[in-house]
Amino acid sequence: MELGLEGKTAVVTGASRGIGLATVRALVAEGVRVVGGARTVGPELAGSGAVAVRADLGTAEGVESFMARALEALGGVDLLVNNVGAGDHLTLDGFLDVDDARWRAVLDLNLMSAVRVSRLAMPSLIERRGAVVNVSSVNGRMPGAGPVAYSAAKAALTAFGKSLAEEFGPRGVRVNTVSPGVIRSSIWDGPDSFGRRAAAAAGVEDYDAFLRELPGLFAITAGRVGEPGEVAA
Ligand SMILES: NC(=O)c1ccc[n+]([C@@H]2O[C@H](COP(=O)([O-])OP(=O)(O)OC[C@H]3O[C@@H](n4cnc5c(N)ncnc54)[C@H](OP(=O)(O)O)[C@@H]3O)[C@@H](O)[C@H]2O)c1
Repeated sequence: MELGLEGKTAVVTGASRGIGLATVRALVAEGVRVVGGARTVGPELAGSGAVAVRADLGTAEGVESFMARALEALGGVDLLVNNVGAGDHLTLDGFLDVDDARWRAVLDLNLMSAVRVSRLAMPSLIERRGAVVNVSSVNGRMPGAGPVAYSAAKAALTAFGKSLAEEFGPRGVRVNTVSPGVIRSSIWDGPDSFGRRAAAAAGVEDYDAFLRELPGLFAITAGRVGEPGEVAA
């Protein structure tokens, strides 16, 4: 699809797989110059046409070095996609088993990464009348019992996006939040995925059957699990 993005620049966090990688690919296909960040750079990101930057975006230092590299490579940011999230601390432990250190790690990755990256990108976004897309979650609007810290972090991210839109909209920066439901990514796929661990904890033996039943169990309107490319689009 021709979106008039040819020659624009974009920064995508959490870019090595899943929704982030699909977003990188969609933008590159539109002629956008992209910097994508993650802790690991596999063949998919390396071969995507984006400049791949290794960084731990759950830390302030990681975000600083990532954004320094991004601004150096691109010269400025037209589009920021704050996608990084979920990460290593996504579990269904009950509230009483989640200590401060885990709360902090979850908030650092799911909320503070977007806060920190946006702060560093904002001067350039204002200058270029750019746009921000935050990838939140249905959990931010309709939390279940868990993952408790993740849902709270995503609710805060959604509120953060609205505040940015209110403050910077009048200065030409558009800010939107996308809140996906269940999307087929490493959160659900793979032997040690969150989905497989959650299913095992609930006593589910046949994970593939569970995945097939998921759209019914979660009342997913589309009747199926979504694909990363659909969120990217
Ligand atoms: N899939 C779903 O069902 C779903 C539903 C609602 C919302 N979401 C949201 O969508 C976003 C993308 O999720 P996804 O499903 O695509 O997950 P994913 O497949 O697990 O991808 C996560 C990405 O973030 C990177 N990442 C994780 N921790 C990082 C860190 N500390 N520093 C830098 N990069 C890090 C990962 O790369 P490395 O491990 O190499 O660092 C990977 O590229 C997340 O914000 C998630 O909360 C997903």
